[in-house]
Amino acid sequence: SCDETSAAVVDDGRIMLSNPIASQIKLHEIYGGVVPEIASRMHVEAVDAMVDQALEQANCSIDSIDAIAVTQGPGLVGALLTGVAAAKALAMGRELPLIAVNHIEGHVSANYVAHPDLEPPFVCLVASGGHSHIVSVNHYGSYELLGGTTDDAAGEAFDKVARVLNIPYPGGPLLDRLADEGDDHAYKFPRPHTEGKYDFSFSGLKTAVINQAHHLRQQGVEINAKDWAASFRRSVVDLLVDKTLSAALDTGAKRVAVAGGVAANSLLRAELARRGEKAGLQVFIPPKRLCTDNAVMIGSAGFYRLMAGELAALDLNALPSLNMFG
Ligand code: KG4
Ligand code: ZN
Repeated sequence: SCDETSAAVVDDGRIMLSNPIASQIKLHEIYGGVVPEIASRMHVEAVDAMVDQALEQANCSIDSIDAIAVTQGPGLVGALLTGVAAAKALAMGRELPLIAVNHIEGHVSANYVAHPDLEPPFVCLVASGGHSHIVSVNHYGSYELLGGTTDDAAGEAFDKVARVLNIPYPGGPLLDRLADEGDDHAYKFPRPHTEGKYDFSFSGLKTAVINQAHHLRQQGVEINAKDWAASFRRSVVDLLVDKTLSAALDTGAKRVAVAGGVAANSLLRAELARRGEKAGLQVFIPPKRLCTDNAVMIGSAGFYRLMAGELAALDLNALPSLNMFG
């Protein structure tokens, strides 16, 4: 759906047999962000090889595959179209059921692969480069939106603030590492206010952080990048954890999970585990490789759609703005 091409073989929605990922990050780095045209072209080049690798690594042939799941949206249209076309070709050629999966639902489902005992209901924070939601997972495939960002996604905020520190795209992971060595009390950043109890806003924080950096530099004051990164990371993580735990506790949830690229953030992982457990919740955190974009999470979500008999037709189309809660 964005800048990763991936295919996976998943057994019963839970067991990952393979999950190769071709990342295009290096190609987009010089532009400071994902260039959709380049992404589409690279997906076309990589998709068949990823499917072959997924089968090979799972040590199985296409004959033992029962169904094909694919990301229908949200995401970049050219990327989505490549995946949808490849999945349709496989489904048609092999006479297999085709299943359409929402990318965000895929992120949530990474938790099923990572935690074989986790079952709904649970509350899940989904924080990625394009989306930030707090979701109540009531049953498999049944989601209720409790809150989310009113403007930028959490990952987007990380990436934009990282740029000010001259960290290459995508800045999130590198800013995270830099922050590990910094003092998170060194700089004071605003705590954004939102109307909705479980909503958060990053646009104001991001702008304040970027403006403050420019202001200091104009005055000839050197910014301590490690402290800056640590202070910013602390603001974002506190906000995400506060809102997620409030939503979970207020709705009577017993379990809380996290998903999406930002769930790879080391402070977010540590704080959600620490504060969640202190509040009496069971906390589920997938390994980092299952937090960022991958195909096994799509396969897992697809399995539960297949079990519910929710199949897609062969005229399936990519939907760049597909909404999971509509
Ligand atoms: O879920 P994902 O792989 O792709 C989207 O669906 O957007 O998320 C990518 C986002 C990027 O913004 C990236 O900077 C952020 O996740 N990210 C992180 C970390 N690892 C990835 N943000 C903060 N800390 C990290 N360790
Ligand atoms: Zn994603």
